[in-house]
Amino acid sequence: MSKRKDKRQATKLFSSITQRLASGPPMVDDISEQEDEDQAHVVPSHSAALITDDMLVSSTALAQLLTAPDSQPRDLPKMKKFRFQLLHEWMSTHLLPCRVADVGGGKGLLAWLLQESGWSATVIDPTHQSLPDKYKDLRTNKQTRIPNTERVPYLDQPFQLTMTPNFDLLVAMHAHGCNIQLIDAAATYRHRVILLPCCIIQEPLLPPPDVHWIQCLVDYALHKELSVEPFRLNFKGQNIGLYLQPTLA
Ligand SMILES: C[S@@+](CC[C@H](N)C(=O)[O-])C[C@H]1O[C@@H](n2cnc3c(N)ncnc32)[C@H](O)[C@@H]1O
Repeated sequence: MSKRKDKRQATKLFSSITQRLASGPPMVDDISEQEDEDQAHVVPSHSAALITDDMLVSSTALAQLLTAPDSQPRDLPKMKKFRFQLLHEWMSTHLLPCRVADVGGGKGLLAWLLQESGWSATVIDPTHQSLPDKYKDLRTNKQTRIPNTERVPYLDQPFQLTMTPNFDLLVAMHAHGCNIQLIDAAATYRHRVILLPCCIIQEPLLPPPDVHWIQCLVDYALHKELSVEPFRLNFKGQNIGLYLQPTLA
């Protein structure tokens, strides 16, 4: 797609977003939050549909996912249950340890793995859950116990913009209701953010019907003058990540 067409689409998207925001209370998807973790990823809406290759091709920011060698591990067996380990591995490979918030972090396995690797990690999630008692270590291919004395710092509150200055990096994997807020946090505080978007639940805006949720978040981030680096992890499902950083002034 040409840059001009891209720009036209972004302008259309943002005028639609602005109209929606101006026309009343936040729009919330009519999908109720599922208690069960696996069910939470199954949403009968276009919003939860996986992004197609055609959509990727037509996106200036996302097309590189089809060609980047480490973003396309499609011929590997998909490691369905191991998204925390895979995101931990991606973060350890690409970033230096820092103060990270795992927003919508659930049981806290990602935060715990990061903590074990020298990061200062905190979970922010209104529903406090205990760490799992075991996980599979992908390097040794063995089930590994987490002693029940282990803890990660846990703020059992919804994420708020004002929490941002306490961290250097915000991560939200399949988090509910936080994606737009985290982009706002990155733009306001010039912070880095990693999003792995899933379904649209309790977000302040919805994409137009012909725009995928991930593309909508990309457009919103670009509009907020953040750079967007997409990546893909080798698990089945919503496995596309967006690493967002403030662009240099
Ligand atoms: C689908 S689960 C994802 C959990 C985990 N990150 C994962 O990948 O399995 C969504 C999580 O978002 C949390 N959540 C919902 N609203 C939130 C908010 N406003 N701020 C932070 N977390 C929130 C829920 O409590 C839930 O643990």
